[in-house]
Amino acid sequence: PLTAKVINQDFLEIGGCDVITLVKQFGSPLYILDETTLRNSCSRYRDTFQHYYQGESQVLYASKAWSCLAVCMIAASEGLGIDVVSAGELHTAITAGVKPTLIYFHGNNKSLTELVFALEVGCNIVVDNWHELNTLINLAKERLLSGIPIMLRLAPGIECHTHEYIRTGNLDSKFGFNPNDLDELFRLIIQQKVLNCVGLHAHIGSQIFECQPHRDLAGVMTQWLNKARENGLSINQLNVGGGLGIKYTESDDPPSIEEWSKAICEVVQKACKASNLPLPKLLCEPGRSLIATACVTAYTIGSYKIVPGIRTYLAIDGGMSDNPRTITYQSLYTSVVANRMSAPVTETVTIAGKHCESGDIVIKHAHLPQVEPGDILVIMGTGAYNYSMASNYNRVPRPAAIIVANSEANLILQRETLQDLIQKDCLPERLRS
Ligand code: LLP
Repeated sequence: PLTAKVINQDFLEIGGCDVITLVKQFGSPLYILDETTLRNSCSRYRDTFQHYYQGESQVLYASKAWSCLAVCMIAASEGLGIDVVSAGELHTAITAGVKPTLIYFHGNNKSLTELVFALEVGCNIVVDNWHELNTLINLAKERLLSGIPIMLRLAPGIECHTHEYIRTGNLDSKFGFNPNDLDELFRLIIQQKVLNCVGLHAHIGSQIFECQPHRDLAGVMTQWLNKARENGLSINQLNVGGGLGIKYTESDDPPSIEEWSKAICEVVQKACKASNLPLPKLLCEPGRSLIATACVTAYTIGSYKIVPGIRTYLAIDGGMSDNPRTITYQSLYTSVVANRMSAPVTETVTIAGKHCESGDIVIKHAHLPQVEPGDILVIMGTGAYNYSMASNYNRVPRPAAIIVANSEANLILQRETLQDLIQKDCLPERLRS
């Protein structure tokens, strides 16, 4: 599931760069982001929506998948807006030069400081609940602001088949208003003058392998637009969220970006026509399917342990601190050995991380050639929710990330140093000798 290819029969190449050389130059573990793959998925989303949707459309990148300056800049340069969910992601997008009108600020518990920051910046605020709505009205009144662009997030009551932790569309989700509140919400929006409700938003979950839940969502959301019109409110944006799955392993079979986008466009168009509604501006906000396959993580193989008749553990120099997805969601990955690409696959091993937990396993059943300590193991498809969920567990520094394109490699995130790890430590006077 990646653009990486084999060179000289034995070696893995990404963006025209030899992975082994990259690891020598930038160290291990290493996140390697392929710019061409990232730009391709941005432009595929953008062009597909423009092709299949007769109204205006805007694709946003859900930066929670991987927020850093380089990634935000690339997404913006491909014409995408950015979905942010914290002051940190907002600060990153703004610093990357993204236009505030193309930034949408999500979150079920934005702090006062975050809301004030959003007001100062002038981005769109996706209001999640009554408490936030009232807080925002008060803040805006205090500051004599008006016409603040908001969207309302709703929990549409649509189930999808994915891991329980990443399902968000159900009615008892912690995110979004109950659709039964819509009439009351619309009445309040019309009465007050400080907020300008530009659209409605919903996100039903992540790593979804079917188009039907999003078809259902598009249908339900168009009914909400109709309801707004019946209440005398014209709302002209619909944001259907993200959620398209990717192929982590051979058995994963997600729809393509084109199939997914087309399905949504068709339903919105058909439903609007049936209700005689003007076509809203259509937004979506993919994260994983934009960036996951554009990155791999290279690790160095170290020690091993053979448990006779049961399994062989191969340990790598990273693990749950740079990729917490396996221990959190039992996620599956595929791997190759960058310096043995043409060697026959003969072994099934368990790839273990270096952290002090038995659950720190990166791949339970990895099919590999015979390897030696010092070989470079590459895990595919690590662009989404790896760096962004990385930690310093066991005081392990976060790896560096580089971007490769046209045989050139550049740092986009520096490797943390041991000094970085204690930088914020403080000692009260009485502990100093
Ligand atoms: N919009 C909203 C409001 C979201 O909450 C999310 C993801 C997205 C868009 C992007 O969804 P995507 O296209 O990436 O599926 N850490 C988990 C995934 C959590 C997703 C959270 N929300 C994982 O590693 O699988």
